[in-house]
Amino acid sequence: MLNEKHKNFLGWNIYQIYPRSFFDANGDGIGDLPGVIEKLDYLKELGINAVWLGPCFKSPNFDNGYDVADYRDIMDEFGTMADMRRLIDEMHKRDMKLILDLVPNHTSYEHTWFQESRKSRDNPYSNYYYWFDTPPNDWESMFGGTAYAFDETRGQYYLHSYTPQQPDLNWNEPGVVKGMQDVVDFWVDMGVDGFRIDVIDQISKDFEGNRNCFGPRLHEFIQALFSREKTAHLFTVGECWTGELDEIHRHIHQDRQELSTLFQFGHLNYGREDKFTPAKGSLTQLWNCMRYWVKTMEEQDLLISLFTDNHDNGWMLERLGSKEYPYESATCIAAMMYLMRGVCFMYQGQELGMFNPHYDTIKEFDDIESLNMYRQLCETMSSVQALDKINFGSRDNTRRPFCWSGQENGGFTTGKPWIPVHSDYKSCNLEADLGSEKSVWRFYRDVLHLRKTHTALRVGSFEPLALRDASYCAYTRTAGDEQITVVCNFEKAQELDIPDACGEILLSNYGRKKKNDKKYEPYEVAVFWRKTNG
Ligand code: NOJ
Repeated sequence: MLNEKHKNFLGWNIYQIYPRSFFDANGDGIGDLPGVIEKLDYLKELGINAVWLGPCFKSPNFDNGYDVADYRDIMDEFGTMADMRRLIDEMHKRDMKLILDLVPNHTSYEHTWFQESRKSRDNPYSNYYYWFDTPPNDWESMFGGTAYAFDETRGQYYLHSYTPQQPDLNWNEPGVVKGMQDVVDFWVDMGVDGFRIDVIDQISKDFEGNRNCFGPRLHEFIQALFSREKTAHLFTVGECWTGELDEIHRHIHQDRQELSTLFQFGHLNYGREDKFTPAKGSLTQLWNCMRYWVKTMEEQDLLISLFTDNHDNGWMLERLGSKEYPYESATCIAAMMYLMRGVCFMYQGQELGMFNPHYDTIKEFDDIESLNMYRQLCETMSSVQALDKINFGSRDNTRRPFCWSGQENGGFTTGKPWIPVHSDYKSCNLEADLGSEKSVWRFYRDVLHLRKTHTALRVGSFEPLALRDASYCAYTRTAGDEQITVVCNFEKAQELDIPDACGEILLSNYGRKKKNDKKYEPYEVAVFWRKTNG
């Protein structure tokens, strides 16, 4: 059985904000904290009760804030500590929770720890990073090329799993553990309610096993951060690249008091051979994956996180949705995913049913991963082919400004946006969506509302009705005598005979009125409610 704390998390409808691109309140072209505050009522109306705010600490932005120069200060472009205090207050006033993005695996090279560490081999910070006379292995940076850079001052190589401006911290050094505990405590004292933890699996390295992650001291370090009285109440979600049940168990089982949940990424891979090769996947594949994991995690008393999009991928709709049925396919995925049992995470813009934008030149891109990849691809293919891949897989797909309206720059800023807005912003924006009979936004609001108001949809057990490889998905959620049946048909119209699909209709994306109509249209969703004892 899940304990009360974890059960409570099942009721969190979390919205990921990429602050740089959410709303710009001061017209400098960059989203900011005052912009987030202005839009809190918008989020509340959608049914959101918690926000995961992307990195907002002081940073030179080689990796958009995932390179932190000072964990106790706010990035200049985003505002001030006073803005952050106001954000926390305004959120709490609205009964909303704030989850910050903690980046413990690496700092910016501008962080004082690194600036001190590089000075010599025997100063108090000398072991805060991984230094070597010669690279000990051939590990590669996630953004291409070797993971070792030479530092002239110290005359040694250091490890950087990401850009050379993001040196990896050496957690074997007690000062690092203590330093990061202090950072966590600082923000807990400020009143934040939780953390999303960047690449948590990498904070302990397995040099012997030649793996830059899942090292022997990983759980000791996670415990040092979160198994303390001061942090016991927090919600924590770790970014962790594993599909192994045992490993997941070790990270998030409630009895271990490490993390509350993890982001598992298996289901994001459908429709791609690799991140940058355009291809379509099918909803059947998504169903197969979710069906297994949601059920297995429930059986093991583990909290799964439910999500379709984030700031590191192109939009899921591009791969699994249909341009012929944009509203229907977006709402079908929404219902299928978020009526399952788990913690709900949405990414900004998802509520508008976004597909990827398209650009004819690399100049419209900003992300370091995309630019490096483009350069690499151009060595083996034409620039047109390379651009095709970037258009498909670039992280910028989801990092472009939120389209509030069809006005210039999508109403995101009165200045010049830091990155061009979505190429379809004139038709795909909040105002246009709300003005349409087929509003993806309203459907999301209804889904979130159902999660809030029905115990069965929060904590109820999940039972798949459709089998693996089915051309539709169907499942029940049951708590006490309340049973909710979710049916989502996939690409093709068909007749479905589902005995549990009976009772009152709670939600439909086709205006379904007849309960017993077995005919389902393409991407049709129908959600049924009944009392099992009546
Ligand atoms: C994962 C983050 O989600 C990604 O955006 C970032 O580039 C890397 N970690 C490095 O911090």
